[in-house]
Amino acid sequence: MDKKILEIQETFSQLSPKKLSEVEKIRIEYLGRNGYLTKLFEEFKELSPEFKKEYGKKINDLKNLITEKINSWKLLHEKDVNNKTEKLDLSLEEYPINSGTRHPISIIKNEIVEIFKYLGYSIYEGPEIEDDWHVFSALNFPEEHPARDMQDTFFIEKKPDILLRTHTSSVQVRSMEQEKLPIRIICPGRVFRNEAISARAHCIFHQIEGLYIDKNVSFADLKQTLLYFAKEMFGAETKIRLRPSFFPFTEPSAEMDVNCKLCGGKGCSVCKYTGWLEVLGCGMVDPNVLELNGINSKTFSGFAFGMGLERIAMLKFQVRDLRLYFENDVRFLKQFKNY
Ligand code: DAH
Repeated sequence: MDKKILEIQETFSQLSPKKLSEVEKIRIEYLGRNGYLTKLFEEFKELSPEFKKEYGKKINDLKNLITEKINSWKLLHEKDVNNKTEKLDLSLEEYPINSGTRHPISIIKNEIVEIFKYLGYSIYEGPEIEDDWHVFSALNFPEEHPARDMQDTFFIEKKPDILLRTHTSSVQVRSMEQEKLPIRIICPGRVFRNEAISARAHCIFHQIEGLYIDKNVSFADLKQTLLYFAKEMFGAETKIRLRPSFFPFTEPSAEMDVNCKLCGGKGCSVCKYTGWLEVLGCGMVDPNVLELNGINSKTFSGFAFGMGLERIAMLKFQVRDLRLYFENDVRFLKQFKNY
């Protein structure tokens, strides 16, 4: 027994592992289930009682010595590993990272884009700085016509007029110039109007324009498209109604309302006691607009619609002060984390 103990001690004392994996190998070899120490303890069990006391202590001392040495090797080589890959020191405390949230207007825009993408619409974009032709004239706004007053324009230059677009309908014109028929597009973007900033109005806001031109496009197609959109956007139970309206570039024109979910149609301050909420403007593309843009209005017809993203966000999120959408106060923005 003495000899064995000495032998193990002797060979162990000559070891000097260079890395952590070697330390582990030694640990298994000496202290593992089939290791030398375990075998010694097994032999120890067979000893007669008078020897047990003496050898019990010796084997235990050897085991402690080996355990201590292995632990110190471990510490030594773990340090090595940490030094080499400092950035991977997993013992460092976590660094709190506050992930950002999407802006509510982006959330709404993405949702609308997804809905129309499913119907085969592609995204089409145009410039924010425009000329009179694309924003007004090609959309059938006659010169000096009061319809131009509907939109208080920021002019950059006069004669020729260069201006900030007042609506994304200008992108309709760009697409008719550039694309082959049929056209089926939605145009998200920023628009600008010279308005005093208040809870209900802002000089910058966002719109999405829709345009579909093909042979045999009818008002029924428009209505069905908008009904589908409203149900996807506001829930399957949503009802729509179309009210006659006026826009220079559509004939006939309409405004679409959805039923007010807040009061269930009974009337409340949000829907101004009508049970309905206005969502967008729409209509059949005026034949004049098609002709002005080189499209034969006898062969082709189309519909268009345009909506304000802030308005839809207000309805969906019930945030009724427009200014909040522009302040980028994180206390406001982080409330949209789950969308
Ligand atoms: N451009 C209109 C606006 O800014 C919205 C609009 C109404 C767009 C009817 C359309 C439409 O395409 O058909 O108020």
